[in-house]
Amino acid sequence: MTKLSFEDKRIAAGQTLGVAPEGIPRHIAIIMDGNGRWAEKQGKPRFYGHSKGGAIVEKIALYCVDLGIEYLTLYSFSLQNWKRPKEEIDFLMGLYSLYLEGIRDTLMNSNVRLAHLGSLDRLPQKVVDTLAETIEMTGGNDGMTLGLALNYGSRTEITEGVKAIAKECLEGKLKIEDIDHDCISDHLYTAGWPDPDLLIRTSGEMRLSNYLLWQISYAEFYVTEKYWPEFDKCDLDDAIKIYANRSRRIGDVKPQSIV
Ligand code: IPE
Ligand code: IPE
Ligand code: MG
Repeated sequence: MTKLSFEDKRIAAGQTLGVAPEGIPRHIAIIMDGNGRWAEKQGKPRFYGHSKGGAIVEKIALYCVDLGIEYLTLYSFSLQNWKRPKEEIDFLMGLYSLYLEGIRDTLMNSNVRLAHLGSLDRLPQKVVDTLAETIEMTGGNDGMTLGLALNYGSRTEITEGVKAIAKECLEGKLKIEDIDHDCISDHLYTAGWPDPDLLIRTSGEMRLSNYLLWQISYAEFYVTEKYWPEFDKCDLDDAIKIYANRSRRIGDVKPQSIV
């Protein structure tokens, strides 16, 4: 079977969605929010929403592979989420191990590489191990990169990056005048990745909740009222169509290409 390039896939996807190939983002970041409210709306416990939300991940990730998306970055647990009740955290941690194991065949069959954004501190050993094994197993895949922001906080990511830069300066490996935007980007979890073009948040909230603050500098926002467990391919199509029709001026008076 011939392997289609990202470009080939974006041309085909553009035709299907009625947008130019450049209208298909290279990097989509998603804040998957609303699992609890979705469950509560139906009189079910929050856990039920998390299970359903986890199942949606695989569907959306596979669809992104078809569309020619190169990077899909999903916010699944923030450093601030440790404030939640222990039972909910325990349930979520169990779910991450389960899904990370369960998704392996799909990742291998679809040539998807898994990457982790976040800290390993406080994560249960089982989650650390399943993450490491899945990252290792999929490391040779050169199709889409699926970035899982798990135990992630952007301010902590930037703080750690700044510390690493300061250390390199003290050790004489880096000169202060060489610290520029690229240098800072290279000290984040997303080193070497293009910045997100499109940031999607479900459940209607208009905030970033400490997600990719540096990287989304010029990302386009798309917020849908739908809760994450009810987000489907058509919603992603809508987000992309709206993105494709935005005028990304990046400070200029006419649209710019930043790809
Ligand atoms: C997002 O859904 C999943 C996580 C943060 C783990 P929520 O659990 O935040 O659901 P709501 O926002 O309370 O409805
Ligand atoms: C953001 O959702 C984090 C994730 C989706 C993992 P939250 O539900 O934690 O965000 P807030 O509390 O509404 O800002
Ligand atoms: Mg929430």
